[in-house]
Amino acid sequence: MANQELDEDEINPFTMLLTNDQDHTLNSFATVHDESTPNQQDLHILRSIQSTVVIRQLRSEGLSFQLWPAATALVTLLDLHRIDPSKSPLSTTLSAARAGANNRPLRILELGSGTGIVGIVAAATLGCHVTITDLPHVVQNLQFNADANKEGVGSTGGAVKVASLRWGHADDVDKIGREFDIILASDVVYHDHLYDPLLETLRMMMLVSGDGKERKKMVFVMAHLRRWKKESSFFKKAKKLFEVDVLHRDSPCDGSRVGVIIYRFVGKV
Ligand SMILES: C[S@@+](CC[C@H](N)C(=O)[O-])C[C@H]1O[C@@H](n2cnc3c(N)ncnc32)[C@H](O)[C@@H]1O
Repeated sequence: MANQELDEDEINPFTMLLTNDQDHTLNSFATVHDESTPNQQDLHILRSIQSTVVIRQLRSEGLSFQLWPAATALVTLLDLHRIDPSKSPLSTTLSAARAGANNRPLRILELGSGTGIVGIVAAATLGCHVTITDLPHVVQNLQFNADANKEGVGSTGGAVKVASLRWGHADDVDKIGREFDIILASDVVYHDHLYDPLLETLRMMMLVSGDGKERKKMVFVMAHLRRWKKESSFFKKAKKLFEVDVLHRDSPCDGSRVGVIIYRFVGKV
């Protein structure tokens, strides 16, 4: 069984590189703090669709309610992808997924969504159907953010659903199903006790066939900001199950030696 989120004091994203949203080299999207709205709602401007997404962070509630740096990097890439797919590191992966989807909207699952910004922006910029997920106590804020952006997301043909999905729980995977083209996540490799449950969910989603039929290829795209050496054990374990390659490396932000890396995981045959 998966451990729930523990040891919140161990990581403080503000001191552990929850860097200024504007510092990423590729950052096309800007954030405006909306003083008129309660509960730290920020407007994030998406240039590609000339629109904004509104995201509520509840920082005092813990790590799950804050925007992490890898999310910012992935949102930026999604926005830039829509502006010019020919220059986008996501193009090959998205084109292959679209080819497999046979003209229906892409179905995307996001794991450990936190505020939900990545899934909401994916739905808005790709016009796809996204299910954003997290631990049960995070679902209410996810739903709040999904509802706040329903109209904007719908205007590009996108849609967002919200669900609870605890890593390592087979019953949660069975409930949500395996009919996705792409799995997305950002900043989900941090506490080492969560490595195995996360990999187990990926294994159940991407490699296990519940009905005996051959599984369709699902791709996992993960934005990650490396903080500790111990994280190499996550990648070592992952590489036993998946081919892992790098789609993109962000330049380091000011004061940091590392930048966000976007990885692609594909199941080994
Ligand atoms: C560091 S935060 C990143 C949040 C968001 N993806 C972002 O980049 O802003 C990690 C997220 O993983 C979620 N999480 C932690 N343990 C989990 C578990 N066992 N099952 C599902 N989600 C979990 C947390 O609730 C949190 O939202």
